Amino acid sequence: MPIIYVHDKSFEPYISGETIRERIRTLAQDLSKDYLGKKPLFIAILNGSFIFAADLFKELSIAAEICFIKLASYKGTKSSGQVITAIGLDTEVFGRHVVIIEDIVDTGRTLNEFLPQLHHQQPASLKIAALLQKPEASIYPISVDYLGFSVPNKFLLGYGLDYNGLGRNIPEIYKLVE
Ligand code: IMP
Ligand code: MG
Repeated sequence: MPIIYVHDKSFEPYISGETIRERIRTLAQDLSKDYLGKKPLFIAILNGSFIFAADLFKELSIAAEICFIKLASYKGTKSSGQVITAIGLDTEVFGRHVVIIEDIVDTGRTLNEFLPQLHHQQPASLKIAALLQKPEASIYPISVDYLGFSVPNKFLLGYGLDYNGLGRNIPEIYKLVE
């Protein structure tokens, strides 16, 4: 895997497609064991998580549902700061065993604001599956229950992650060359 160029930046190989596949298989086995008979509801957060969500979901050996939401953040009118709202959460969460699927947990802000909204709807349980987490970037402590890889605080690309819209279709994960 050589260096690749996207927009004005160059990226070097970081995690191979095979390594990602193997890790996802293990995560899916863990989830299939933990949620056997519970008919969990997976909620994947778009856009970034669509490839991870599809690959993870395919590997599950249990009955499970999946739905997709988009989180929109915008400035409040005064000092309220940024608000994150779920668009498209049309599935009843009350009493369900819910697993959030995220591509990457960076500062943790997205989940920190979204998790209370979900808790409010009283799921039977609420866990997080994320392909990647950058512990050094953490501002809001988010504990990921099913984590693919812990990664350094570098900009990553591929496997759903974009740089200004491009790179999501790259089947491996690349790291910005600094
Ligand atoms: P957080 O709210 O700071 O945790 O940010 C999470 C979101 O930022 C992820 O779902 C990604 O969409 C995006 N993000 C964070 N780090 C990266 C990266 O290295 N490459 C591409 N997108 C990223
Ligand atoms: Mg995302």
